[in-house]
Parts: sequence; C-alpha cells; structure tokens
Amino acid sequence: MAVRRLYHIQPASFAFTPENEAWVKRELTKYPPGRERSAVIPVLWRAQEQEGWVTEPAIRVVGRMLDMPAIQVLEIATFYTMFHLAPVGRKAHIKVCGTTPCMLRGSDDLIAHCQDRIAGHQHEVSADGDFSWEEVECLGACVNAPMIQIDADTYEDLTVATFAQLIDDIAAGRAIRPGPQIDRMLSAPEGGLTTLKDIQDRPSAAAKTASLADVAGKEPAPAANVREAPAPTDIVAKAGARDQVPESRTEKATTSDPRVPPPQKVPDEFKPELLTGARDGRPDDLTRIVGIGPKLAQMLNGMGVYHFDQIANWTDSNLAWVDANLSAFKGRAIRDRWVQQARDIVGVTEPDTAGGMPGGGQ
Ligand code: FES
Repeated sequence: MAVRRLYHIQPASFAFTPENEAWVKRELTKYPPGRERSAVIPVLWRAQEQEGWVTEPAIRVVGRMLDMPAIQVLEIATFYTMFHLAPVGRKAHIKVCGTTPCMLRGSDDLIAHCQDRIAGHQHEVSADGDFSWEEVECLGACVNAPMIQIDADTYEDLTVATFAQLIDDIAAGRAIRPGPQIDRMLSAPEGGLTTLKDIQDRPSAAAKTASLADVAGKEPAPAANVREAPAPTDIVAKAGARDQVPESRTEKATTSDPRVPPPQKVPDEFKPELLTGARDGRPDDLTRIVGIGPKLAQMLNGMGVYHFDQIANWTDSNLAWVDANLSAFKGRAIRDRWVQQARDIVGVTEPDTAGGMPGGGQ
C-alpha cells in the first residue's frame, strides 16, 4: 500500500455545519465520560461526508472536540483507506479492486480506463472535477470479479464496456444499479442454478414470511395502506434488494407449492394506466430499476408497462394493484420501491396524477 499523506494543498479552516455539530454532540453521549475519543472514526467520517475528504484543519477540529492530540487523529485518518486524504470527484470516487482475483479477471483494463477517462494517476480529480479513482485491496466480492466500489455500493462482473457505461450514466445523472452487471443473481452462477436445484420446490422467503403472518392470524393490509401496514412484503423489504430471492425460485414456488398463499386481490379500479405497446416501439430498459430482471421486465411489458414515466406516476394504490398482479413476483414492486426508483430515473419528485385515483387501463 502506498504511503498515505495529507494533500499538499489544504483549506485555511474547517467547521462542522450546525446540523453536523449537533449530530457529533449527540454521538458523544453514546460513550462513557472520558471515552469520547472512541468516537473518532464516526466523527472523522462525518467530516469527510461534509467536505468530501479529510482535511488537516478538520483533523485538528476533531482532535479538539474529542480532547485528543491531533497527531492521533492523523494516525487514524492515514491508517484507514476509507478516509480520503485528498479532494475527490464531485460525482463519484471510484475504488477499483486490483487484488489477484480481480486482476486475473481484468481489473488492469478497468484501471487503464480510469487513467484514460478520469485522470492519469489515482487520487487525481478529473479535469471537469466530477470523478476520481484509486486502486484498492480486496473488497470482498471476488466471486464477481472484477469489481469496483462507489460510496457504499459495489458494481461487479464488469467489463470495460459496462464500466464505461456506468461512468457515463453517473456523469449524465442517470440511476445506476449496484451489484452484478450481468444477468446473475448476487453470486449465483451465470445462467441459473447448477446445484441445489430442489430448492426451487421450496417456498420463497417472501412466501414463508407471508405464511408465518397467516399463522399468526394477521389480516392482510388494505391495498391503499400497503406502505404503512406491516405487510409481509415490507418485512422482506428490510432485508434489502441484495437479499432478494432468485426469480426462478419464487416463480417455481408460487406456481406449484400449495403452501404459498395466493396473491392479495386489489380491485381493478386501482389499475394504473397501461399501454397496448411501447411508444414509438421503443420500450425503456426497465431492468435499470433494481429488482427488475429480464423476466419481470417481460411480465411488465405483457401487462402494458413499458416506460419509466408510467411507473413514476403510479399512486400507492396503483402500486398495490401492480404488486398484486405480479403473480410469482408479488411483493417486489413495493419492496424494491419501483416508483421512487422510476422517479429518480425520470427526474420527477411527484406523480402527475392525484393520489389514489385509478388509472385508465386497457
Ligand atoms: S479480489 Fe477483488 S474483491 Fe476480492
């Protein structure tokens, strides 16, 4: 690992914003009196979140706040590579894993692309100020090598082409999808399961949760209150998009397993506006929404959903209707926040339609 030093150009001063200062004070109450310096990593992290990198004045301020010598704060900031010691790109700082598995699978090409597209050397900011990059050691996703990390997300199974597309999407403000960038679920084999195939005959995690709720005698949530109600799908949602069950498993389970409850009915009056075909014959790539794979995209097209703006305009009731009509994939739309993701993609914050009103449907 290269020697980590503070950047040669430093700002004159640093101060936490009032909000961050209040956060730090609250954070310090979690530690016993006299042990506040144990909060040095989260406090430094907050400083980095505020400024984009850890500056020398910030190190001094953190030292004063925690009553510890600045040299000790400096030691921590220079030891942990998660702290940026130099300015980083406004839109993304890209960490490229260069350890053996990733190197054998092409990380050198990704690094070469960083040198061409961003800056000739790591820790340099691109000419437009939007990007920076660095080579890092193993980030723990070797099975999907080569991979990169941006903020808390990893992007895996990259080629130079898909990596270049990622950077272009970030530059253009388009939403990007973390995880494998090929058609695989998490670290499952490409092309589907090769072992444990009998697992397809078991109920999905969502179905198991729903079954437990049934056993406990819980009433199904009303359609209009799906977001607020502790519906089984919401419980599953907390596991996050990366914990989703492979589509092949859920499909098999809900179509053949009598233990799986039937989809919850939502009246057709809540059906959103559907189309008989894509506008100009050009459907949007719905798989850009996290949680929508090729099978779900095909199902949505069959239902009459082709475009992000359609999804972005769904009300909660529309969403519940779609969710209830996803058969094997019931629960995905709410769990993976399709509407919010679609709004992020099309750049709107509110739907055009009034809340709770049914769509036309065709
Ligand atoms: S070697 Fe790259 S993630 Fe482990």
